[in-house]
Amino acid sequence: QLILDHLDAHGSVDDTRTLTLPGAAAPASDAESQTTILGALNSLLSREMIHYESHETISHVLTPEGAQIARQGSHEALVWTALSVKEAGTPITPAQLKQIIGDEAAKVGQGRAFKNGWIAKHGNGLVKVVSTIEDVTQNELRAVESTGTLSAGEKSLADLRKRKLIVQKKGQWFTVQKGPNFSTSTAKPETDLTVDMLTSGAWKSAQFKKYNFEAEGIYPNGGALHPLLKVREEMRNIFLEMGFAEMPTSSFVESGFWCFDALFVPQQHPAREMQDTFYLSDPIKALSPPRDYYERVSRVHEHGGFGSAGYRAPWSDAESHKLLLRTHTTASSAHMLYKLAARCRGEPPKEDDDARSGRDDDGFRPAKLFSIDRVFRNETMDATHLAEFHQVEGVVADRGLTLADLIGFMRVFFSKMGISNLRFKPAYNPYTEPSLEIFAFHPMLNKWVEVGNSGMFRPEMLEPMGFPKDVHVHGWGISLERPTMIRYGINNIRTLVGHKVPIESVEKSPAVRF
Ligand code: PHE
Repeated sequence: QLILDHLDAHGSVDDTRTLTLPGAAAPASDAESQTTILGALNSLLSREMIHYESHETISHVLTPEGAQIARQGSHEALVWTALSVKEAGTPITPAQLKQIIGDEAAKVGQGRAFKNGWIAKHGNGLVKVVSTIEDVTQNELRAVESTGTLSAGEKSLADLRKRKLIVQKKGQWFTVQKGPNFSTSTAKPETDLTVDMLTSGAWKSAQFKKYNFEAEGIYPNGGALHPLLKVREEMRNIFLEMGFAEMPTSSFVESGFWCFDALFVPQQHPAREMQDTFYLSDPIKALSPPRDYYERVSRVHEHGGFGSAGYRAPWSDAESHKLLLRTHTTASSAHMLYKLAARCRGEPPKEDDDARSGRDDDGFRPAKLFSIDRVFRNETMDATHLAEFHQVEGVVADRGLTLADLIGFMRVFFSKMGISNLRFKPAYNPYTEPSLEIFAFHPMLNKWVEVGNSGMFRPEMLEPMGFPKDVHVHGWGISLERPTMIRYGINNIRTLVGHKVPIESVEKSPAVRF
């Protein structure tokens, strides 16, 4: 109302700092009052009652130390004053000075007082050498305190800033003009056309509020699924539409055998060591895997076979029976592939196998399997690493698969996620050969980021399971967190996973809306 009345009387408001807000004693020159005014301006602007322009100001305020100096004088003035209480020519020792004005003031003040030519050395002590001083620092600070600036100009201000006695403060103020709907009445425009208005005819003269197509809308106040679960669901649907079946992944605890040995990871591999794998102490020993499979695996490690030289290192039963938190879901894939090869080993189909028995063949059935679940690694935690994360795992088993099938799969899968620019880089895994790291181009970051690891499983892994030689299997592991963070612009993993996730960040995530 104040603004409208002012506009009515004077045609414009040239400087909102000259307005005096209702109930205020002085004009609204402070930042807080200008913020209040800005709120009113925006509300009037939305009704096109006014136009306004904003202007920035830079002023200065005192730091706590600056305020103290404005009150008591600068450190150098305190030094000079301490020397003045003594009779002329009687020196004070630095230790005495410290006692009188304190360590800090004595330390900083002495140097400046020397530089100003106010004091001099006298034997072991200090004496004053001028009879009056002008405390420029104090005077300047007082000026800043009352005017927000200095007539001496920017150089002196910069000096005080460097000494941390003052800091810059940004402010704003506004000029205001009448808008097309200017009126001094702040009656709210109508937001609804009602039956009453229609019957009484009031609609003819009523002022209606304009539609705001830029409004963000009201946040849904129902529950919200976590962004990670949303992306998991999205990936799961892609796999399902590509004909994949989901693997059971409920066992977080695996044995060294299934997590590593079955995958032909050498028993001395660094990934098995304490820094990467969480081992269990209770129970300490896993149940034994099927006897003959166990023997085939230990043999291929120790002595080779299936065209391989093996690692030619002693086999450790204990290592194989250690219990651990799975470091990758490839442990689950190993279980599933072993199961898939059952008929090839001549074992009778189990009830839960979608059995197509009675066929005169080697028993192999192609399979496409995926899983999305947690894995655990003893990593140093930082903005992008936690000790647990989700892996998107998959395997495809068929006769005569090649690396081109793997690359083709990746292109299709990622294009369904909206990522079409992929690169593949040779990599190393003990259980795949060749192995490929997958990079996707991230347009917002304008760089290539690693999104997954993959490869063709080695015969040393597949053949002890019982697969015929012409059956090839390719597999991959993709992080779930990495693409989710990239997609939703989250740069700290702790705001995505764990007990510190702000509920608000979940409720307000754009992921909630799809
Ligand atoms: N297990 C691998 C990892 O944790 C991913 C992977 C799975 C690689 C299957 C190749 C084949 O990074």
